[in-house]
Amino acid sequence: MKLAFIGIGNVGFALANNLQKKNHEIFIAHNDTKSESVINAQKRNSTFKALPIQEAIEVADVIFLATPFKANEEILKPLNFKRKTLVDCTNPVGGGISHGLESKVSGAEKVQDWSANANVVKSFTIYGFENLENSTFPNYNVKPIMMIAGNNDDSKKQVGLLNSDLGFDTLDTGNLSQSLHLEHMTLLWVKMVRANGHHPNFTWAYLER
Ligand SMILES: NC(=O)c1ccc[n+]([C@@H]2O[C@H](COP(=O)([O-])OP(=O)(O)OC[C@H]3O[C@@H](n4cnc5c(N)ncnc54)[C@H](OP(=O)(O)O)[C@@H]3O)[C@@H](O)[C@H]2O)c1
Repeated sequence: MKLAFIGIGNVGFALANNLQKKNHEIFIAHNDTKSESVINAQKRNSTFKALPIQEAIEVADVIFLATPFKANEEILKPLNFKRKTLVDCTNPVGGGISHGLESKVSGAEKVQDWSANANVVKSFTIYGFENLENSTFPNYNVKPIMMIAGNNDDSKKQVGLLNSDLGFDTLDTGNLSQSLHLEHMTLLWVKMVRANGHHPNFTWAYLER
């Protein structure tokens, strides 16, 4: 697939780099295509092309959003997503590792409100970037689970394929409003690892009898 990344930092680069190795074509979407972040990412993976954001959306099959949550409204409102899949990898995090929207609504639903004609799917948020760089667990015979949420089944199927390429099993948790619960799972992971000293290379697994 052709994949556009708005945001190519810790999360965006880890996903883009691993998906490029699975033969996807990567476009960094940035209105300053000569910015330091874009140049740095291209130094690390010279196959990445860069385009202004709306142009990247035009060529992409799927668009990833991996930016600081507070930047999202300004980035998204001018864009037209042409009914394409927008993967929301962002998390609204508030003071003391709390939910940045006071748990009243998910960040993903706000992203949907700000994104004309996008099919938003929440994914890749429930772990730190370490598990997006490397999702292998050679000592176990189950794959780590990636929980997703969204309102459009075709878009969720697309994200499921990308999850598989990244080494995850997909668990569809339901419609986009489920993202609020996923964002709380993120906070749980972040508090455990970043505040309480758990190892960052741990994930959740789905076991069903
Ligand atoms: N870090 C984690 O472990 C982790 C895990 C899962 C989810 N998340 C979530 O993922 C998101 C990104 O986190 P991160 O750690 O990857 O952040 P990061 O390393 O700071 O990267 C942020 C990226 O967003 C870009 N960006 C900011 N404003 C932009 C704009 N107006 N247009 C285009 N690009 C813009 C930055 O590029 P410039 O510098 O050029 O602006 C940079 O490439 C956050 O919402 C975070 O909560 C983080």
